[in-house]
Amino acid sequence: MLRPLGMAVAALLWMAPAIAQTAFTPRDETPEEFTAGTGRDETFYACTACHGFKLVAQQGMTRAQWDDSINLMIKRHNMPPLGEKDRAVVLGYLEAAYPPRTPAARGGWQNPFAK
Ligand code: HEC
Repeated sequence: MLRPLGMAVAALLWMAPAIAQTAFTPRDETPEEFTAGTGRDETFYACTACHGFKLVAQQGMTRAQWDDSINLMIKRHNMPPLGEKDRAVVLGYLEAAYPPRTPAARGGWQNPFAK
């Protein structure tokens, strides 16, 4: 009696993320892989229109530097400018999740092609 229900729930759970990320998310990345925080999903989807989020997550910057990075994306790479509210959400997440640090301190994945 419980089994079919359990399977239906499992199928739904399995399908939900796939449906949510049809648009432009690289298939090998999901927001859940990255540091949890307010605005994570918004940031993930704003940035992964063009490149993987690992490229973002491996950086560590101050809010002002993140702000500059977004300006750079807009100016140099034709990123559609974020609305004022979205930008604040994205900056809030980036600042909290990826503050300045030495690369070795995190010991995580490093993109050998960045820089
Ligand atoms: C319209 C396309 C586009 C969007 C949207 C975009 N970027 Fe980029 N970004 C690029 C390109 C192109 C590069 C350079 C090529 C590469 O390194 O893959 C890049 C590179 C970067 C780098 C590496 C720079 C370096 O010096 O190594 C960072 C950091 C970055 N982007 C952050 C972001 C963040 C944060 C967002 C979301 C708020 C974002 N990008 C959204 C196009 C984009």
